Formats: sequence, structure tokens, C-alpha cells
Amino acid sequence: MARFIITAGPTREHLDPVRFLSNRSSGKMGFALAEAAAAAGAATTLVAGPVALPTPAGVERVDVVSAREMLAALERRVAQADVLIMCAAVADFRPRRMAAGKLKKGAMERMLELVPNPDILKRLAPAKGGRIFVGFAAETGDPTAEGRRKLEEKGLDLIVANDVSRDDAGFAVDTNRAILIAADGELVELPLMSKRELGARVVEWCLRRLELDAV
Ligand code: PMT
Repeated sequence: MARFIITAGPTREHLDPVRFLSNRSSGKMGFALAEAAAAAGAATTLVAGPVALPTPAGVERVDVVSAREMLAALERRVAQADVLIMCAAVADFRPRRMAAGKLKKGAMERMLELVPNPDILKRLAPAKGGRIFVGFAAETGDPTAEGRRKLEEKGLDLIVANDVSRDDAGFAVDTNRAILIAADGELVELPLMSKRELGARVVEWCLRRLELDAV
């Protein structure tokens, strides 16, 4: 049985107990991937940032808040997986410090010093071995060129480049339009479809690749 780890949703980077940096990811795309993987018979773990979605049937869910928590959850589990799909919109920066209590207005400006978060895919690269690593690229410019750049930079097998400047694709909607770009040069431009359908297409690609690798 194939084993999938899928990430979904945003991360939150807290400044104090009530304020954080984050983004508009709803988790819908990552949850659709997890639903598709479980429906295809894969043992599926979903590492989810803070989202308001029910766990798909047959999926093990691990809830995290920050990018560093997501990295730690994946470091503990990646060795047991055949496929990692990073659909989460990980915050690239976090406040240098988190205040223990709610900050007063004046103190907020002083505390808002940002430091880069770890790049999770790059940090997991040494553990990749024969595993399939899939990334997503959220783009507002040229999704193919940017997707290819990220595919290479992060050493991935496949990147799913979606144009997040559209109203019917990307963040917080039920549909998506994506280009699948594989490391071997394969490029599949998909039409607008439900996130459920796109999830199934990406899971199918991974299962086919696992079969080919096993031959
Ligand atoms: O959740 P929804 O509302 O359904 O929206 C879906 C989505 C738009 C969030 C999703 O389809 C998507 O595009 N996810 C990736 C968003 C993103 O962070 O893209 P990126 O181009 O910044 O990152 C490229 C890849 O590196 C991604 O696989 C990302 O998970 C990964 N990454 C990014 C930053 C970081 N510090 N570590 C990472 O591993």
C-alpha cells in the first residue's frame, strides 16, 4: 500500500498570543489531495495548518500552527512515506520573537522584526532518497517559468503550478487551474476543474510514477 504525506492550509506565525502573520490558504486543495489519496487506497497522513475543514474519511490528521511545527511534524514522518505532497502555503517569514502576553500598540512596531522561516522542502531534501516529492507553486506571473524554477531549486519530481491571480483558481475557492511540470520534462496543462478532480489527477500521477519506479 502506498503511503502519502500531504500538507495543507496556511501556517501562522505568531507575534503575540492574539496576532499572527499568515495567508489566505483555506486548506481546500490539500484536503482534496488527501481525500483522493485515501480514496485510491493509500495510507494517508495530512499535516494541516489552521483551517476550518473536516478530516476526510480514512485520513490521519496532524494539526500544526507554524512553519517550524510543520517541518518538525514532517521530519518525524517522512521516512515512513513513499510520497510527500507540499500543498501548504508556508509563511516565508516569522516575527523574530513572540511576546508572552498581548502587545501594547507601541510595542508592536518594535517587535515586528522578521526572520526567514526554514524552506521545508529544501530541509527535507536529504531524506528524499527514492521518495516522490511534489510541490505546489502559487504564481501571479508566468506559472510555467516560475514552476520550472522552483521544481529545480527544490529538487522535486513534480510541481503543480497554479495561477493564483485568477478568481476561480488558487486560494480559498473550490476550483483550480494548474500546469503539472515534471522533472523529466513532461508538461500537462490542465483546464479549470474542481480541486477534488485536480487532487485525483495529482495522486494518479504519483501512483503511476511509483509503479514505474518499482519496475
Ligand atoms: O488552501 P487553498 O485555499 O485551497 O489554496 C491552495 C493553494 C493556492 C495554497 C495551493 O494550491 C498552493 O499553491 N500551495 C503552495 C503555496 C506556496 O506556498 O507556494 P510557493 O510558491 O510559495 O512555494 C513553493 C513550494 O515550496 C510549495 O510546495 C510550498 O509548500 C513549499 N514551501 C514554501 C515555503 C517554505 N518555507 N517551505 C516550503 O516547503
